Amino acid sequence: MTLQIIHVGLGGWGGDWARRVVATNKDVETTAWVEIDASALEAARDRLNLPADRCFTSLDEALKTVRAQAVLITASLPGHVPSARTALLADKHVLMEKPFAPTVAEARELVELAEQRGRILMISQNYRFQPAARAAAAAVAAQQIGRLGTINLDFRRYDNIAPIAEHRHYHIWEPLLADMSIHHFDLMRLIIGQEPVQVSCKTWNAPWSNYDEPAEGAMTITFDGGAVVNYRGSWVSTAPQTNWAGEWSIEGEKGELVWTSRGEKPEYAAIRLRGEEELTPIVLPELTALDRSGSLAAFVEAVNTNSVPETTGRDNLKTLALMFAAIESAKTGQPVNVA
Ligand SMILES: NC(=O)c1ccc[n+]([C@@H]2O[C@H](COP(=O)([O-])OP(=O)(O)OC[C@H]3O[C@@H](n4cnc5c(N)ncnc54)[C@H](O)[C@@H]3O)[C@@H](O)[C@H]2O)c1
Repeated sequence: MTLQIIHVGLGGWGGDWARRVVATNKDVETTAWVEIDASALEAARDRLNLPADRCFTSLDEALKTVRAQAVLITASLPGHVPSARTALLADKHVLMEKPFAPTVAEARELVELAEQRGRILMISQNYRFQPAARAAAAAVAAQQIGRLGTINLDFRRYDNIAPIAEHRHYHIWEPLLADMSIHHFDLMRLIIGQEPVQVSCKTWNAPWSNYDEPAEGAMTITFDGGAVVNYRGSWVSTAPQTNWAGEWSIEGEKGELVWTSRGEKPEYAAIRLRGEEELTPIVLPELTALDRSGSLAAFVEAVNTNSVPETTGRDNLKTLALMFAAIESAKTGQPVNVA
């Protein structure tokens, strides 16, 4: 059965969702589009060729007018909690973009509301739906490098070219930790198979950074199974760019596992056992749907089978808690326990 959805938030990324992800999934039909900003709605309507009578500036209006079983939220962060709350109170399933919510308390409120209403609340952690991420997670789980010790992870991009007034990204809240590192925090939990315990984080801006808030950071994160992650991230790095998932080196007692995915450089995962010179590539799994299409397919599957998706809101509370702990540590200069 086709899943009817209302799509909320039609900025740059939301428009891309509509065109490249939702429109290409034959199991989903969009019955209304919602964008709070009237001029952005008009621009999206023109760009995406949407029917005017099914475009709204309020989710309440759309819910009164069209049929839908689910709501897809690709609004910016201030729109996440109000839109999800409205959708859940109307007994709709919800799929939404990261970061989940501006506070853990609000995220928890939504998780509990979804559970009370018997509805699925899923966060699209699209970086999980990549072959190398899955291969690395499976190899670690299968003990191919044994018990884990140190993990080194680097993320570098140079997103610092556009003029200051024109680039929305320079002016958002915590552009590194909340907007980008949340993907890496979530991947750490997937790949390592352990939960974060404590983080010590420092963030800053290089002298040439166009960002208002810190665009660079470094941290050490300890995990409950003994793994320790050293993570460095930068939006203004003049060193060679990494793929979006970053460059990973995972040291286990038997050797090293390296992997990367999602970007200009080829995706791979490989193991070099201790004492070996060469890396041995891991055969990557073939995923039927990649990235956001993987998220959407997992959401549809969860709704159709009434099952709990991997990146359900409740699971994502742990990713979000690590993000807030890193932000607090950067602000206080102290190690922070992950709640
Ligand atoms: N997963 C990824 O790889 C990835 C990449 C880029 C962006 N994102 C996420 O996607 C979301 C949107 O990002 P963007 O770059 O399109 O932002 P944007 O600011 O360009 O667009 C967001 C749009 O949401 C609208 N909006 C805000 N509140 C709303 C509400 N209550 N109802 C309806 N519309 C509302 C705004 O008016 C705006 O048009 C963010 O959460 C961002 O973190 C994820």
